[in-house]
Amino acid sequence: MIEIKNVSKTYAGGVLAANNVNLTIPDGEIFGFLGPNGAGKTTTIKMITGILKPDQGQILINGKDIQKDVIEAKKEFGFVPDDPNVFLRLKGLEYLNFMADIYGVDSETRQEKIQELSTRFDMGSALGDQIQSYSHGMRQKIMVMGVLIHEPPVWILDEPMTGLDPRSSYVLKEMMREHADENKTVFFSTHVLEVAEKLCDRVAIINKGNILFCGHIEELREQSKSDASLEKMFLELTENE
Ligand SMILES: Nc1ncnc2c1ncn2[C@@H]1O[C@H](COP(=O)(O)OP(=O)(O)OP(=O)(O)O)[C@@H](O)[C@H]1O
Ligand SMILES: [Mg+2]
Repeated sequence: MIEIKNVSKTYAGGVLAANNVNLTIPDGEIFGFLGPNGAGKTTTIKMITGILKPDQGQILINGKDIQKDVIEAKKEFGFVPDDPNVFLRLKGLEYLNFMADIYGVDSETRQEKIQELSTRFDMGSALGDQIQSYSHGMRQKIMVMGVLIHEPPVWILDEPMTGLDPRSSYVLKEMMREHADENKTVFFSTHVLEVAEKLCDRVAIINKGNILFCGHIEELREQSKSDASLEKMFLELTENE
């Protein structure tokens, strides 16, 4: 469960990137975070994950305060950032072991997880190569694998499907659904409205730091009194702003 309470953030340049954001993502839910470029999605995600400090407000992950109880809160989630270009000199397998070391995963469990994840994401033959030799999609996959190796209850993913081929994207979506079905939490941002419509239990739409809508897509449909596609409702909602 993720609880975001009255969270605001203004950058040094004066941009209000999050304006009194309130969101609760319960266990068992896939929650999609939508909004135009520059809306405040990554900023909000960086505050949830403790990378950025909010100007005001509180964020709890499975009840642990990311500002006060930092290490305990961080044990609760795995985070895939929007930029997978990190640890480029490590080999894939070294990176996975590094992540397993950080999160204290024992050697038997990590072997199993590495085996399972590399099969599912078709990465087995690449694990001996440096990440800098990977394509964008392969870098994205190794990041996702590194996060899942410690089996965090809460998944936080910033545009995780970007650059993934159809099979890998399908596998990831399937894993997100399995995770939520185990009564755990998935929070992800996306620009792909079809994915949001098909996959998410609920969505929030943010623009210029303001949450314009939060709920089931059906509720959005009722609210906009139309049977339009999510794309059309999204365009109308963010244009009116
Ligand atoms: N480090 C920063 N310093 C100053 N302003 C920033 C910084 N990072 C983001 N911003 C501004 O904050 C606003 C929100 O940016 P953010 O990255 O959260 O948007 P986003 O919704 O993730 O967009 P995208 O869909 O393009 O990833 C934008 O106006 C952006 O210019
Ligand atoms: Mg972003």
